[in-house]
Order: sequence, then structure tokens, then C-alpha cells
Amino acid sequence: MQICLNGEFIAKEAATLSISDGSFLFGDSLFETLKAQGQKILLIDEHLERLELSAKLLNFPCDRKRIEVSLQQLAARLTAATSRIRLTISRGSHQGLTLPEAEQSWFLITATPMTEINDEQRRAGTVCVIAPNQRVNPLNHLPQMKRGNYADCLYAGDFARQKGAGEALFIDSQGNILEGNTSNIFAVIDNQLVTPATGSLILAGVMRRQVINATIESGLSVVEQPLPLTNLQQADEIFLTNSLIDILPVHSLDGQATKRGSRWKSLMETLQKQTTKLQPDT
Ligand SMILES: Cc1ncc(COP(=O)(O)O)c(C=O)c1O
Repeated sequence: MQICLNGEFIAKEAATLSISDGSFLFGDSLFETLKAQGQKILLIDEHLERLELSAKLLNFPCDRKRIEVSLQQLAARLTAATSRIRLTISRGSHQGLTLPEAEQSWFLITATPMTEINDEQRRAGTVCVIAPNQRVNPLNHLPQMKRGNYADCLYAGDFARQKGAGEALFIDSQGNILEGNTSNIFAVIDNQLVTPATGSLILAGVMRRQVINATIESGLSVVEQPLPLTNLQQADEIFLTNSLIDILPVHSLDGQATKRGSRWKSLMETLQKQTTKLQPDT
């Protein structure tokens, strides 16, 4: 495991966290999860743009340049075929229930080897259930961010595991499916790709945007609109996306087999070609 704290590469034992840190006490942190293939960290700009935008909305200091430099240094140290990179920023120590007026946040980057989903697993698809909870937030823009306060996603994921499923899908009070506990959702309906809009309490997924762009380039139209569970059950194809899995087809939903298509496969191929082409050697 590689650990970089504020630009310094350190051993795990040397990494400590203050007991008054707001990330620990209140989940007042922002994070990104990126994938590296060999020594190439994928979609760095897209992840840092989301981080920077979220930081701005929350008045969170974020030194993008320093983080970029550390990510480049980290890339050169990677030895695994695939790594999961977690970037966290925090304002630091809080006093009581007031946000500190921090001018700088600390940042931590860790890299852990991971196993990619293989072709067979992708072809088999994943089992989804409906989450019993919601990613509740009074402010509309908060769910679009990867804030440290993420326990709702962990609880939903645990519910899925208990049911023998791979992902739990959040549903709103009107019966619209929003996203998975670690993923965005897409459905092919009447030859269009349908996905909930980002204003509707979903994370602005980096892979979601890649898939939307690749779909538009392929000539298929993308519609960002509510996705009622009843429409989803009739869809020609459903798949999930995130930065680690890329695209993962859905095999069944709440115990009911879903229709299977091949749109996900051609999108996967387009994305793979793009990442090989676009990522500079680091
Ligand atoms: C709730 C949720 N939605 C969507 C996503 C997909 O985001 P991204 O494509 O940026 O990995 C994630 C990823 O962790 C997530 O946790």
C-alpha cells in the first residue's frame, strides 16, 4: 500500500489523525476514488474537477496543484496491474460544532492493489435490490459530491450483501430509481439511453459522464430524466457505472431477471480505447 500525506510518502504506522479532526467527527471531508492501470492513473482531471467544484460549494480549501503533483509522484511508485486510489481532503481540527476557518486542508492519498472485474463477471451481470434507506440531504447539491459523510451508501451496500446482491439501488419517494450505493444507473429504453439527471439527488459520477459522452458519440441519444422502477423493469438493458467497475450490466432487480442487451459492451470498448488514447504516460 502506498500512502501520501500532504505530499509526503510515509509508512502506514506514521499516518495519524487528530482526535478533533472534522473528517472523523462529522464526516466533513471530500474524497475521490480513482483507478490506476499500471502506472497510469485514469481520469485525473475529471476527478479533480469534481473535487474542486465540491470544495468551492462547501467553502473547503483545496490545493489542486499540490494534489496533482502528488498523484503524479504516486503513479511512478505503483507496481500493481490495477490499483484503487483514494484521495481524501479534510479541513482539519474542529472546535465544537463550528467549521474551522482553515486556509489549507490536509490531503491523504492511498493506493491499494485491486482486482478488475473480469469479462465473465461482466457478462454474468450483478444482482440488485432496492435499498431500504435514502441518501438524505436537505441541500440539493450535496448528493452530487463525494463527501466523507457516506455511511448511507455503506448501510445500503451492507443490506445488498445480506440479500446476496451486489448493489442496492436508492429510490425516491415517487418511486424513481436514483443510483446504486456505489454506482450510477443507466437503462436502454426504446433505443435511448436513460439515466436520472444530476439535479435529482445522485452523485455526479465521473464514469457516468464518460458513458454519456461515448453514447452521444456513438449516435444513440441520451435522456436525463426520472427513471421509475416500473420503466426499469421493462428496460431492454440496465447497467451500472463507476470509476472502478467502468460498466457492469444488471442481471436481476429485486428478484426479477432483467432483459440483457449488448449496448454496454460496445460502450466498454469505446471507453477502453479512449482511456488508452487519452491518458498521458506518467
Ligand atoms: C453513490 C454513488 N453513486 C455513483 C458513483 C459513481 O461515481 P464515479 O463514476 O465517479 O466513480 C459512486 C462511486 O463511488 C457512488 O458511491
